[in-house]
Amino acid sequence: MTRYTLITGASSGIGLALAEALARRGRNLILVARQRDALDSIACELTQRFGVEVLFRVCDLSQPLRVSGLLHELEHSDFTIDLLVNNAGIGTTGDYVSQDWACEQQLIELNVLALARLCHAVGTLMAGQGCGQILNVASIAGFQPGPGMSNYYASKAYVLHFSEGLREDLKPYGVKVSVLCPGPTNSAFFRRAQMDARALQSSKLMMSAEEVALITVKALEKNRAIIIPGWRNRLLALSPRLAPRWLVRRISAYLNRRFGKPSR
Ligand SMILES: NC(=O)c1ccc[n+]([C@@H]2O[C@H](COP(=O)([O-])OP(=O)(O)OC[C@H]3O[C@@H](n4cnc5c(N)ncnc54)[C@H](OP(=O)(O)O)[C@@H]3O)[C@@H](O)[C@H]2O)c1
Repeated sequence: MTRYTLITGASSGIGLALAEALARRGRNLILVARQRDALDSIACELTQRFGVEVLFRVCDLSQPLRVSGLLHELEHSDFTIDLLVNNAGIGTTGDYVSQDWACEQQLIELNVLALARLCHAVGTLMAGQGCGQILNVASIAGFQPGPGMSNYYASKAYVLHFSEGLREDLKPYGVKVSVLCPGPTNSAFFRRAQMDARALQSSKLMMSAEEVALITVKALEKNRAIIIPGWRNRLLALSPRLAPRWLVRRISAYLNRRFGKPSR
């Protein structure tokens, strides 16, 4: 039975970079995202370059019925998923009440519910096999509250805490769980969240998706629990624990206003 790594949000950014880094290591892939053309050309390219099998599934993971369809296929197929990468995620920015609810709901459906559901379904299959590995993509935003991006930060806090809990829950079944907490990473994320990332782009904080992927793949091989790429990001993740929460909220609000102001 062929083994696959399933990566959500593999059509761009960190997910695409992870797909490339894992294909380079000889892993067969199943790529999941919404953009068919992008997935098709990525699958062809990775197959040609690395000689691995790359399948793709077009799926809007913010729609529970589509997630059901994907899971049904996975549960009734010959695929063995030995690594699940829950990477797909979106951000919204601005005062919460000025946001369109549909966008906020989509964020929760994708960042939280789809991830939790995939972990449940694929985690159950892995537990039955007595092995497997799950990587969930959170953010350094998960370590603190984020005024101006409250829903996004809270969704990533969920992913961080959920993944740490799941790691212990699945240990007796031989399934490993890690959580990736990137800092600012050059990708379509900012444009899609309607953020003006120019100030961030010219700062030393911004990492490339390829750098993040390389660090992540090495850390996965060592079964690290929490993967925070780059020393600056490790410091940023630690700092909320050293300051009172009122101060953390204010600094976070200031940084989100400065770096996350809506693009015009
Ligand atoms: N960039 C950063 O600074 C940063 C920092 C910390 C954490 N992260 C996290 O890293 C992850 C990847 O983000 P990125 O920076 O690589 O951004 P990105 O380039 O915008 O990639 C997001 C990926 O998610 C997919 N996606 C979005 N909505 C989807 C949906 N409804 N159903 C299925 N797939 C969907 C997109 O593909 P389609 O459009 O084809 O569906 C794309 O492949 C996210 O979870 C993000 O929160 C990013």
